[in-house]
Formats: sequence, C-alpha cells, structure tokens
Amino acid sequence: MAKTESGWNIDDAAALYGVRDWGAGYFDLSENGDVSVKLNFPTGEVSVSLMDIVSGIRQRGHEMPVLLRIENLLDARIAQLNEAFRSAISRAGYQGQYRGVFPVKVNQQAQVIEEIVAFGSRYGHGLEAGSKPEMVLALAALHEDGLLVLNGYKDREFIDLGLWAIKLGYRCFFVIESLAELPLILERSEALGVRPLIGARIKVTAKVGGLWTETSGDRSSFGLSSTQLISVVDSLKARGYLDCLQLLHCHLGSQIPNIQDIRAGVQEAARYYADLVGEGVPLAYLDLGGGLAVDYVGCRTSHVHSRNYNLDEYCGDIVETVMEVLDSQGIAHPHLVTESGRATVAYSSMLFFDVLDVARFEAEPLPSALHESVHEKLRALFSLLQSLDATDLQQSYNDAIFYRDEIRDLFKRGQLSLRERSLGENLFLAVAQAIASRLEGKSDIPPGLEGLRESLADIYYGNFSVFQSLPDTWAIGQLFPVVPLHRHLERPTREGIISDLTCDCDGKLDNFIVGPHERKTLPLHPLKDGEDYLLGVFLMGAYQETLGDLHNLFGDTHVVSVRINADGGFDVMKEISGDSIADVLSYVEYNPDTLFDGFRKTCEDAVRRGKISVAERQQILEDFSARLRGYTYYKK
Ligand SMILES: Cc1ncc(COP(=O)(O)O)c(C=O)c1O
Repeated sequence: MAKTESGWNIDDAAALYGVRDWGAGYFDLSENGDVSVKLNFPTGEVSVSLMDIVSGIRQRGHEMPVLLRIENLLDARIAQLNEAFRSAISRAGYQGQYRGVFPVKVNQQAQVIEEIVAFGSRYGHGLEAGSKPEMVLALAALHEDGLLVLNGYKDREFIDLGLWAIKLGYRCFFVIESLAELPLILERSEALGVRPLIGARIKVTAKVGGLWTETSGDRSSFGLSSTQLISVVDSLKARGYLDCLQLLHCHLGSQIPNIQDIRAGVQEAARYYADLVGEGVPLAYLDLGGGLAVDYVGCRTSHVHSRNYNLDEYCGDIVETVMEVLDSQGIAHPHLVTESGRATVAYSSMLFFDVLDVARFEAEPLPSALHESVHEKLRALFSLLQSLDATDLQQSYNDAIFYRDEIRDLFKRGQLSLRERSLGENLFLAVAQAIASRLEGKSDIPPGLEGLRESLADIYYGNFSVFQSLPDTWAIGQLFPVVPLHRHLERPTREGIISDLTCDCDGKLDNFIVGPHERKTLPLHPLKDGEDYLLGVFLMGAYQETLGDLHNLFGDTHVVSVRINADGGFDVMKEISGDSIADVLSYVEYNPDTLFDGFRKTCEDAVRRGKISVAERQQILEDFSARLRGYTYYKK
C-alpha cells in the first residue's frame, strides 16, 4: 500500500484504530479513507462505505446523531453462532442439538427482536425473557414451537400467561430461581390444568473473571444452592411433577474473558446435570446462559473487554466438556442452550455523531523576551522554558507547577493583575507542551510525567449524550471502539478526549482502544473549516439502548436500519425519528400545548407593553413551536 505524502496509509490507520482487530472481519477501511462494512454474499464479498450510508441517511432528512443498525450483521451473527455449534456438535459426535435463545433484555427494540426471530427461525433460535413485558413481546414475536426461557422473579400473572403459552404449544420453560417460586407454579398449573415445563437455575461456584464476576459463586443473587435444588427435586417428585423438570440452567456471567473459566463453569453444571439424571430427573436441556464475550479491544486476551478465545473454540469447548462429564457416567447428551446476548447484537449497531467544536490546550504565541519590570515569578517561568534542554524534564515540570501556583496565589492576593496571570498560565502551558513534545515516542517516561499528555489533550465536543446512547461507558467503564468515519488517508495529528453535550463532567469518552491497547486519549484529525468531522462508536448494540436516560433531556437519537445488498448498494429498511423536544418534555410530565400557551401569553403581554412588535411576536412563537417539534440534539 503506497504511503501518502505524510508517510501514512490506510494500513497505518487500520492498525492505529484496531479496526481489523475488533472488527471481526465486518469492518475495515476502504481505499478512499472511509470506514467500511464488509459482508459475504454467495456472489462474493461486498464492502460499503459508512460515509455513503451517512449521506443516504442525511438525504432522507435525518441529521446526526444517528444510531445505525445493519440488519445483515445481526443475521450474520445468528448464523455464525448456530453454525459454529452445529459444526462443534458434528465434529465431536455429540448427540444433542444446539438451541440458542436471545435474551430480550440485551436489546428489546422491536426491529432487533423481529429480525432475530425472522432470521433465527431457520435455526429454531428462541428468546429468553426476564419480566412480564419481555414475556409479552416474546410471545407475540415467537413462532409457536419456539423455545422461550423465562428467567427472573415470577408472580401469578407471569405464571398464568406462561402456562397458556405452553397450552398453545410454545416450549416455554419456567426457570426456578428461588424456592418460593415452585409452590405458585404448581398451584397455578393445577388451577389452569396445564402441566408446566420447568427449569432449575443453579449457582455454580466456579468464579469467572471479568466485570460480572458477582453473577456466579455462592453469593450470587440468582439460582439455587445444591441443597435447595435437592429440595425442588424432592417436592416435584412428591407432587408427581418430576417429569416437568426438563431443563437445567446456569448463567456464569456476561463478557467472560477467559475460556478456562467457561470450561470450569460448564464442567460444574454438567456434573449437576449428570447427577440429577442419575436420580431419575428426565432432563433434556442444559442451558448455559450468556457469557460469550465480545473482543471490544481486539487484543484476544483475557483483558476484561476482550476474550482469549474465538467462537469455534467456545462452542467446541462447551460441547467437549459436557461430553466428557456425561460420557464418563453413561448419560445421554442434552440439547445445549445458550443465551448469548452481547455476542449476537453488539456488532449490528453503531452510533454516528458529528463534532461541533474543539478546545485546544495550547500556548498563545509568546514574546521573545520579557521586560525587566515583569514580575520575577513570570520571568522565572520564562527562563525555565528557554533552558529546558539543559535540565531534567521532571524537575523542570515540578518547577513550572511551583511557579504557576505561586502566580495564581499572587493573583488571588491582588499582587498580580489579570493580564499578568494570563501571561503566567500561557508560559506554563508552553513549558508543559515543550516537555510533552520531548517525551513523544519515549518508553521510559518518568512516573510524574505520565499524565502530561492527557492533561494537554484536545477536547472534541461530540453531538451526542453519553447517558442516552452509551450509558455503560459511564456506569461500568465499558470500552467501545471509537473511530473517525473518514479521512483515514490523513495522519491524525491531534490527541483528544470526547465530551458530550450534557453539562456533566461524566459526560465524556476518555478511554479508548488505540493500537490495540487502552489509552486515555484518541488520535484525531484537526477540524477543517466548513467540513463535518464524523465519529463512530462501534460494537454498541448490546445493553445500551434501553439503559440510556434523559440526562439534560437529550432524547432518543434517530435510528435507521439498513440492509446491505449483494451489488454493493443498500436499502433503508426502517427509519425511526428520534425524540422531539415536545416528546422529552412530555416524558417528564409537561404538556407541550400548555407550555406553548403559557409562552404565547408572555409574548402577548410583551406586545401589550410595547417590548416587541406583533410581527416579532409571530416570529418568536414560530421559533418556539419549531423548537418543540425539533430534535433535542444540535445543528452546526
Ligand atoms: C440469565 C442471563 N442470560 C443471558 C444473559 C446475557 O449475557 P451475555 O450478554 O453475556 O450473552 C444475561 C446477562 O447478564 C443473563 O443474566
């Protein structure tokens, strides 16, 4: 690949942003410097520029920010998961089948569930629901023979609807999470005359690493201890319902980075399975929950945001581990169920937003000399700057901080003017920048200077809300790949963090994947006059959409679903306009009509008192009304 004038090419950009590492083959950079999405069709591979999709979205009247869903990526993930289990099963000579279910909580959006059910039906892919609303949407979406796993707490209404679903022919399993649930399930089954399908969720003690380690182990909030499990079995036996207990369930945690932890958990679950069957429980399904991780970093290690295994290895290890345990006890192989959420939906959604402005932390041009009358502390900073090469950088930085703080104190005591303080701050910035540039590319940075680069980074103001669109970055430090959507033929010469539109110091992205390592700043391009600079946040299809909130009343973004075609074009399948200002105000109990009327009265009063003309009143009210109907995000 030829280098451009600046000695930079697409491969350098791809390596810097890790696109080919975390992109799992779905994302790359195209020859013209745009990020592209790649899909395989029987006729060959197709690559489409995301900037072309952005311009298609804009032509349809949607401004940034936009959440883009690519339906084929969802299909591709379901196909890969099912095919990987199928081949692991056939390679190993395993006798059961794979029956995947998608946990609705990971992305409840109708477009997503409808696509998963429609495409997944060829594999018998079902759903998992953990609440009454999730069960209702799952029953309406699923085909009658679809597997539906019901987790979470259950009340009488929940149980009754599940029992009717069983009567209709759904393979609908009530997973018992606590001892208290069983009597109610049996009571309602007797009342409605429907025999339930029952699963039992166990607490495996094998601890998994990663961010969700508390989901497993003795103290996890869900699941039965071995003693409680035995009590469930005994009660079912005593009441003549043992034949209903057909599924054993466990969930080790989400985003499990280490395959050894998965093996250990599966082994323990399989041991429970074998002994229960040995006791005469007619189990037929082993549900291993979620946990299949997404490699957000692209480093393929046991880093919490990565994973040290691939899909084939995951499926192969599960099949092999279950077989090993069961074969040694002569137990028939169960159907394997997994509830993979993030690995199914993460890739298909991405957030695009434009950059509204950039704040740079750079010194203004300085005079070549300072007059003798200038305060001695300012002169000390100035001579520090001039003698940097002759002194130790750490010591110079310490001295610069000392002088800067002295200057601030003198200002507070009224002994330095505002202009003098401004000169002092500027000199300090110049020293800090000069030190940072001398550290560039060095591996042995003194510990006291490690944060210097971050403290000088630009702030790029992005047209989005972290709390609405990427809540996990704030809540649990989730890392998502962030990449400019274009300009990859240019070397990114700035380092920045990204601040959102909310007036909240937590509303920012300041942890990135670069290279592919975690870093506090992201290489970015300088803004160009009159040109948009668009950034994309990738792999964010799991958990973000319903967890998002209305901080500062920034509402839902526009959502556009596209389907890539084999000829390299794309169709816009669905467009959902984001919340208007009237929408978000009504969520917090305002009535937009009442608001308009109140404001109209204020304007009328202003006309009466001669503050505005009637024509101005009309203009103001039109603006107010347009704002109510408009998008909550900004226009450049
Ligand atoms: C019971 C259950 N199943 C499945 C999942 C989905 O996990 P993942 O997104 O890691 O696949 C979760 C999430 O925590 C869960 O609690």
